[in-house]
Amino acid sequence: MGKITLLMPTQLCRCSGLSATSLVSRAPNMVAALRNVAHGTVHLNGNPIRSCSMPVKAAAGKDITTIEGLSESNSHPVQLAWIKEQVPQCGYCQSGQIMAAAALLKRNVKPTDKDIDAQMQGHICRCGTYVRIRKAIKTASVLMASK
Ligand code: FES
Repeated sequence: MGKITLLMPTQLCRCSGLSATSLVSRAPNMVAALRNVAHGTVHLNGNPIRSCSMPVKAAAGKDITTIEGLSESNSHPVQLAWIKEQVPQCGYCQSGQIMAAAALLKRNVKPTDKDIDAQMQGHICRCGTYVRIRKAIKTASVLMASK
């Protein structure tokens, strides 16, 4: 069995409704064994998925990108926009929000509010940073368009 590292081992996974402890017990069968377990969203072949509720066998042979792999120097336009717009409050949900936003902008560099709402649906922020998230996605869109 591989090593499992959890950043927030007492947190509940909001995507699957499972506690971190139950996730660990299921880890051999879950992509959640990745460090990103408490934050949910990773890219699987470039598409956002909830790592906490996807069986490992569904990810076999596919490329997986976590928040740590988005850029080596925190220079991805979404990361820069998140900093510029000071999006995070407690930070708990933010890696999932960033990964969802990055996936959206990869396929649609100029999303409408409706596109953003559709993509970000289900990414709960209990701190209520939704207005700043939307603003940051639009800022990232401008950064990406200017490259
Ligand atoms: S920043 Fe606190 S839950 Fe989103």
